[in-house]
Amino acid sequence: MQNKFKRILVTSALPYANGHIHLGHLAGCYVPSDIYVRYQRLQHRDVLHICGSDEHGVAITISAEKEKTTPKAIVDKYHEANKDAFRRFGINFDNFSRTSLPIHHETAKEFFLDLLQKGYLLPKEQEQFYDAEAKMFLPDRYVEGTCPNCAYDKARGDQCDNCGKYYDQLDLKNPKSLITGKTPVVKKTKHWYFTLGRFQKKLEAFVEGHSADWKDNVLQQTRSWLKEGLQERAVTRDLSWGIPVPIDGAEGKVIYVWFDAVLGYISSTKEWAIQQGTPERWKEYWCDETTRYIAFLGKDNIVFHTVVFPAELMARTGYILPDNVPANEFLNLEGGKFSKSRNNAIYVKDILDRYPADLFRYTIATNLPETKDSDFYWKDFQAKNNNELADIYGNFINRTITFAAKTFANTVPKRGPLNDRDTAILTYVKDAPQRISDLIEQFKFRDATMEMMNGARAANKYFNDSEPWKTSKTQPEQCGTTLNICLNIVRSLAVLFSPIVPFSSDKVWKMMNLQGSISDEHWMNAGEAQLSEGHQLGQSEILFTKIEDSTIEQELGTLGTPAVAPVTAANTFAPLKQQISYDDFAKIDFRTAKVLQAETVPKSKKLLKLQIDLGFEHRQIVAGIAEKITPEQLIGKTIIVVANLAPAKLMGVESNGMLLATASDGDNFALLTSSKDVDTGIGIK
Ligand code: MF3
Ligand code: ZN
Repeated sequence: MQNKFKRILVTSALPYANGHIHLGHLAGCYVPSDIYVRYQRLQHRDVLHICGSDEHGVAITISAEKEKTTPKAIVDKYHEANKDAFRRFGINFDNFSRTSLPIHHETAKEFFLDLLQKGYLLPKEQEQFYDAEAKMFLPDRYVEGTCPNCAYDKARGDQCDNCGKYYDQLDLKNPKSLITGKTPVVKKTKHWYFTLGRFQKKLEAFVEGHSADWKDNVLQQTRSWLKEGLQERAVTRDLSWGIPVPIDGAEGKVIYVWFDAVLGYISSTKEWAIQQGTPERWKEYWCDETTRYIAFLGKDNIVFHTVVFPAELMARTGYILPDNVPANEFLNLEGGKFSKSRNNAIYVKDILDRYPADLFRYTIATNLPETKDSDFYWKDFQAKNNNELADIYGNFINRTITFAAKTFANTVPKRGPLNDRDTAILTYVKDAPQRISDLIEQFKFRDATMEMMNGARAANKYFNDSEPWKTSKTQPEQCGTTLNICLNIVRSLAVLFSPIVPFSSDKVWKMMNLQGSISDEHWMNAGEAQLSEGHQLGQSEILFTKIEDSTIEQELGTLGTPAVAPVTAANTFAPLKQQISYDDFAKIDFRTAKVLQAETVPKSKKLLKLQIDLGFEHRQIVAGIAEKITPEQLIGKTIIVVANLAPAKLMGVESNGMLLATASDGDNFALLTSSKDVDTGIGIK
């Protein structure tokens, strides 16, 4: 940590209180933040971990409608459920607040009014989608349509889940109201707009000031937003659930959920300070340059924390900005997306009845989506538990303590003269805290976890190579030295592993009959051999039990259908074709083309006839995809074609090229399209 900082404020994204926490949430945000906080506590730094429930917005009202109840009942239920799930999973926030509390409403209104007074919020009459049948304006999530950027047909009112683009609601094509299914009309309504553009320069300087320490995914998303130029954004909505806009004449309008949710970090800190009996102390964390603020969140929340929230903070005076926003990508499940509706999800509340939290904490930590999406596979979970936690880490601890119990009356034997192997392992362990610390400080939790397990591997190797079962008979003094070192390593590993598998580390502490708790230890001393000779050990117990194949089969059986078929041995792959040279490949002229027209070919089940624009000419091509996609879905798409294929006739219809798509159907059918709108006729290599 740089020296100017005296304390660390850590926030974890406030989960919406309309669903249960699942493994995807944990991997995106909460496992990393918890590891980080536990590690910083062991460094004995002043660190505060803040979270809470995000209880406003249309996500909540839609859930209430679905569950046929009130928004209040929804947030009450999920707030308690999620608070409990986090606790059982070992994620200990200093405060887990709620944005429906008065203290939060007051905080958000204070921000709103201050920004209004400073001229950063401007009222404007604007056209908006209105559902004439339901008699209401449609907030973004109540509208679905075709993305104006990528033509994805399930795009939300203001954001496309497919290409990630944010746009104005009225730019959405083929809009449908999700309440009545009708096409909405466009009607005028008044809203307040946050003049984000006025912070453009300051935000650019802020972000570029972090070009060396922020993660690439975070910089990229943020830069691309800034590059487009920041537009005014409406920060009020026509909705009954939320924080009422504190202005006369704004009845029936609430503050937009994203404007208020991020402020939930501040109000949660205020609530914490009051609980501590020091109500003003929240300012130490939010208004003092010597506080280092780190915001953890998943990739869909990035720009709200690198642009919108910082702009809100800049608009006030005296608030600090995030020093880092180590956002993760997504965790998928068995090759498909986590999906509530498809029942393709693993909820924390369910798994903790069947497995200790540490198994998931470890599996997730080794597989965090830090630089790209990653997958949770039950088989991998089994392998990580059986082959790593049980066979490497657990095994080392167990064999060491059992050996000491048997050979040295369950005490720490005397350490005699050291041989080279002894010195090497002692040095390796002594340096481990610094090695792991370097990784954690760079938010490389995966590598840090791997480094911990490497420590256990090295320890096992040392045990094996030292052969204490032999030396106990021939060189008892040497045997004592080996075991003294091994027991000290057990202690070191318990401290080093504790941010990842805290429950197991506490167990090891007991097995070793050590005083106090691990939280009294100092991270940087974890590698020192500190056990005193003759120390009486406790009772050994098995740390990790193996998981049977049948258990995993059962888990797999309860999952719903993944969004994409998982890659398993059951999937058959076409055999690889014969190798080709680069010259063979270079003969093919791939081009981008726009589909102008598409229609079925009479009497053919499979064929579609397409008119395409190649930039330099229009052409007709025929493709055998009529059973996989409709003509409407093709029109307007920018596709990839082989433009120099010899002409051919298919059922009498001439085709002058070939369109590229996956050679599969169902969920695995996809057109090869361009990831963004590019001109037609562009070559591809
Ligand atoms: N509730 C949002 C989500 O689950 C995250 C909000 S983060 C905060 O995606 F910044 F608003 F707190
Ligand atoms: Zn899109």
